[in-house]
Amino acid sequence: MGDIRIAPSILAADLSKLGEEVRAVDAAGADLIHFDVMDNHYVPNLTFGPLLCSSIRPHTKLPIDVHLMVEPVDTLAIEFARAGADLISFHPEASQHVDRTINVIKDQGCQVGLAFNPASPLHVLDWTLDKIDLVLIMSVNPGFGGQSFLEHSLDKIAEVRDLIDLSGCEVWLEVDGGIKVDNIASVAEAGADTFVAGSAIFGHSNYNDVIGQMKTQIAA
Ligand code: DX5
Ligand code: ZN
Repeated sequence: MGDIRIAPSILAADLSKLGEEVRAVDAAGADLIHFDVMDNHYVPNLTFGPLLCSSIRPHTKLPIDVHLMVEPVDTLAIEFARAGADLISFHPEASQHVDRTINVIKDQGCQVGLAFNPASPLHVLDWTLDKIDLVLIMSVNPGFGGQSFLEHSLDKIAEVRDLIDLSGCEVWLEVDGGIKVDNIASVAEAGADTFVAGSAIFGHSNYNDVIGQMKTQIAA
């Protein structure tokens, strides 16, 4: 098996002590910090802006994996790049010009990902897979943490795995929503290599234990 990565979503952290929470998951074996940006327009919820991204930047050397659930995308993507993001994903439906948005993010020196909702088709990948670093498959409808994993996502993950392997491109396959210790093995089996988990990690009393259990499940 190749590299696998666990990306705790700080949406589920204790936001009153976010720096401490970021340091704690870093020390517990996290590989990325997943940062969910919601705008009360593209999704029905409102979370964090670039200011918060720059505030956590000094607390970890791990890559900050910004998941933009915003419309429009380009201006905010630039602001997040300046605020210390390493990787920025956006939903293709939220951009009028997907190829341009990919370039805007790359021009800032960031890696770029495309995010797909449960009912979103994958055909955009026909013309973008060789230009991006990550595909993010949503296994819940975006907007809220703590939802249940949608089982049909497994088929979609497997389809993307095939697309990536056929392309020969170096693209990570990230899955986001409802991932827990008891279902992460099936998500890995379907072909994911990067696993976002919010409530399953921050809802646990011992971050080291839960991240360790996730990695053990994937390796099994
Ligand atoms: C949902 C977010 C997810 C969410 C995952 O819109 O993109 O990252 O925080 O949370 P859990 O792991 O609790 O489903
Ligand atoms: Zn997310």
